[in-house]
Amino acid sequence: MSQIAGSMKAWRLHAFGLENLVLENVSIPEPKSNEILIKVGAVSLNFRDKAIADGFYEPERVPNPLIPVSDAVGTIVKAGSDVKKFTAGDRVLSHLYSHWLDGAPSSNEPDFCLGTPFQGGLAEYMILEAESAVLAPSTITDEEAATLPIAALTAWFSLVTYGGLKAGDTVVLQGTGGVSIFGLQIAHALGAKVIVTTSSDDKGKKALELGADAIINYVKTPNWADEVLRLTNGVGADQLLEVVGGEGLNDSIEATRVAGRISVIGFLAGQTTNLNLMRVIFKQTLIQGIAVGHLKAFEEMNEAFDKYNIKPVIDTVYSFEQAIEAYQHLSKGAFGKIVIKVS
Ligand SMILES: NC(=O)c1ccc[n+]([C@@H]2O[C@H](COP(=O)([O-])OP(=O)(O)OC[C@H]3O[C@@H](n4cnc5c(N)ncnc54)[C@H](OP(=O)(O)O)[C@@H]3O)[C@@H](O)[C@H]2O)c1
Repeated sequence: MSQIAGSMKAWRLHAFGLENLVLENVSIPEPKSNEILIKVGAVSLNFRDKAIADGFYEPERVPNPLIPVSDAVGTIVKAGSDVKKFTAGDRVLSHLYSHWLDGAPSSNEPDFCLGTPFQGGLAEYMILEAESAVLAPSTITDEEAATLPIAALTAWFSLVTYGGLKAGDTVVLQGTGGVSIFGLQIAHALGAKVIVTTSSDDKGKKALELGADAIINYVKTPNWADEVLRLTNGVGADQLLEVVGGEGLNDSIEATRVAGRISVIGFLAGQTTNLNLMRVIFKQTLIQGIAVGHLKAFEEMNEAFDKYNIKPVIDTVYSFEQAIEAYQHLSKGAFGKIVIKVS
């Protein structure tokens, strides 16, 4: 493989706060024997990246300086001597839980996450362990592929890997952010019925165009769980992706059927909740915490994206130099994903 040496441009965080995220020239890292060096094509932002930069996501784990952002796609330009899995020129994706390859998670998976505590991909080049990289789907662009590692895999792992989603099932998705829009696309492709809650009628229209069967404006209809029951003939949904968290988890229990599944993913409205345990008991609700997913599921998902021709929904693509604007856009809310084109 070609020799890569010299310096690269990288955004590095030197203290919490976006004002401390600085574009710098640094040395191109050298892959160890089990690693690959990729030329980064694009990265996408997740809520986690903003929370890390702002210092409220495991601040004690954040290295200084940090090249942030976990989700990246790139082309392999150099590989360590032991790498057999890929060849030069392969287009690969990063995998957040880089040591969780299959089966049940180990207790120390967060020790090996990209973008904290490992260095991330908001740079011209990035190091990945070869075993934890995954081929990108062939039918999508770099900008689209960069959206997959966290948001899409989280939705897929919740609905399909853990949830065993079947055609004809009903799924509730909260809002129109990254995870929920992927949940909509995946559930629709697999033949499920999809109900999306949103604060915006315009975003609701876009969700209908993507295949949603019903929209509930949760601002105009705060009792959105009652509306889900009405839409499901009083039964409730089979699955719900809980990205909002906080006290709303009680509404989600009401909106799902007896022995329905709630995947607890996000904490947009709070990291704690007062749960009505009697409702959980009587309804026998399955409440499953989700931490993205493992590599095997990522590979299965990528095959499904090619098979069903799923195109990730991107709100805006920013240039590499506009990284700060991209972070600021994420804070305001996006329809789908925010992407930064690197090369
Ligand atoms: N556990 C995991 O593995 C995992 C993985 C990925 C993400 N997450 C977490 O999941 C959450 C969502 O992530 P994301 O990347 O999808 O976020 P995002 O792209 O920033 O999505 C935010 C959207 O959520 C909707 N929303 C906000 N408050 C709401 C409410 N009270 N009710 C309904 N919808 C609401 C809004 O949609 P509308 O504008 O349509 O109202 C908003 O645009 C975050 O907390 C993130 O940290 C966890």
